[in-house]
Amino acid sequence: MPENIYLPENAAADAAADPVLAERLKTVAAVREKLEKTGRVGERAPKYFIQTFGCQQNEADSERLAGMCAAMGYEKTDTPDDAELILVNTCAVREHAEKKALSIIGNYKHLKDKNPDLVIGVGGCMVTQKARADKIKGSYPYVSFTFDTGAIGSVPSLVDAALSGGKRTFVLSDSWTISEGIPIRRESKHMAWLSIMYGCNNFCSYCIVPYVRGRERSRSASAILEEAKMLIADGARDITLLGQNVNSYDGGTVNGERVDIAELMHKICALDGDFCLRFMTSHPKDASDRLIEAMASEDKIVKHFHLPIQSGSDRILKAMNRRYTAEGYLKTIEKLRAAVPDVSVTSDLIVGFPGEEEEDFEATLAVMRAAGYDMVYSFIYSPREGTPAAKMPNQIPREVSSERMERLLALGSAIADERNARFKGRRLRALVEGVSKTAPGMLTARGAPVRPIHFEGDRSLIGQFVDLDITDVRTFCFEASLAEPND
Ligand code: SAH
Ligand code: SF4
Ligand code: F3S
Repeated sequence: MPENIYLPENAAADAAADPVLAERLKTVAAVREKLEKTGRVGERAPKYFIQTFGCQQNEADSERLAGMCAAMGYEKTDTPDDAELILVNTCAVREHAEKKALSIIGNYKHLKDKNPDLVIGVGGCMVTQKARADKIKGSYPYVSFTFDTGAIGSVPSLVDAALSGGKRTFVLSDSWTISEGIPIRRESKHMAWLSIMYGCNNFCSYCIVPYVRGRERSRSASAILEEAKMLIADGARDITLLGQNVNSYDGGTVNGERVDIAELMHKICALDGDFCLRFMTSHPKDASDRLIEAMASEDKIVKHFHLPIQSGSDRILKAMNRRYTAEGYLKTIEKLRAAVPDVSVTSDLIVGFPGEEEEDFEATLAVMRAAGYDMVYSFIYSPREGTPAAKMPNQIPREVSSERMERLLALGSAIADERNARFKGRRLRALVEGVSKTAPGMLTARGAPVRPIHFEGDRSLIGQFVDLDITDVRTFCFEASLAEPND
């Protein structure tokens, strides 16, 4: 088995009890045999390339796709040019994401022309919409298969069919279950995504996610804890719990005790090992006192709370179906800051939602000031077919949204600068991620501040926690020097 692959310890035992898993393992073995027999690529192992769009959920899914590719006998390549298998994991959250995916898939045609044996599959949120799967079917004949977000585990059988010259397949399984037992090939040894739940029940009126990810379903606390233990034993130092709304995690009752997100985090923090824990994303309506208390009391939980507000106008929040008011939201932030004084707070914001007037937009700017965000992720509203907001009157012209966006970005940077200043001169603990991509010769680390921290140090520190003295704070990064031991 190639390095960095996480296969649940009891896969064989699980397979005995789970016919779907047993079938998958059989297909994986069949593909492996096929690839070995046909010697498709002479001396070297066949290669896979995965192109990922979208959020951390998709990145986590791509690590599962990679796990299955590796188990089937493919080796990873960083370029599509020499791949025998290309998988595109798409996103549908905004039009731009879909356009980018279609354009990349379009570019792969010349690779298929060069190598008729190349297998191309498209999965993820975009092709979970029937109209988009149909578009791939009709306009991209060199794509062998598509698979929806519920059908990730079918990839080995889809590859098997493509290698056998079978018919093209377009899977819309509508199967919103949880697939345990899929191998995972992680991108990083030190940082890990850990999916704790899938889907979303919130139906914010602008958002496509509930339609393409299905209803909320939580993994069992024991499966999560088992995975966390293996991750830590494997060297993971920074673990992010993932879900569209982790605040509504429901792990059922264990020993008479309800396992909500706070309890789950307490249980993970109680595991041995030097690691830190993050979580993404939280819905303000469900951000509970228990969760805030967990962050305050557990040293291992990173003091960063991502709490997307989307808009500061109650009228717009109502139209968005967010189910909280700006005032209620700010109260939560107040509670959070009282319990965790130094916490970094970040948010998502949408500009130009249908019907957004200048005064609504100004209410958003006012909330940004009041909340004091360390960073905001802001998006121009993009109508998504099939969502209620796409049919709302008073869609905002692009020029108006763009102008508002510029003002929002300027304010966001000014607030971030003010917030960053609190870290200057402080000593912080952070995990060394690797060599900096933007600051030549420096290493980069991450801790509770949302900005990367650059410092000079030896590569042997990669993957370790270090103490850093922050010497300079910029809008997008911090600079630091390594603290002397015993300093
Ligand atoms: N579940 C997460 C977010 C998922 S999508 C949450 O609720 O926080 C990530 C972000 O994309 C959202 O927070 C929202 O700000 C943005 N987004 C979603 N749909 C959008 C749309 N139609 N147009 C523009 N931005 C959108
Ligand atoms: Fe989309 Fe709202 Fe669900 Fe987040 S909570 S994924 S914004 S519907
Ligand atoms: Fe995009 Fe799907 Fe994530 S729509 S944002 S990849 S859940």
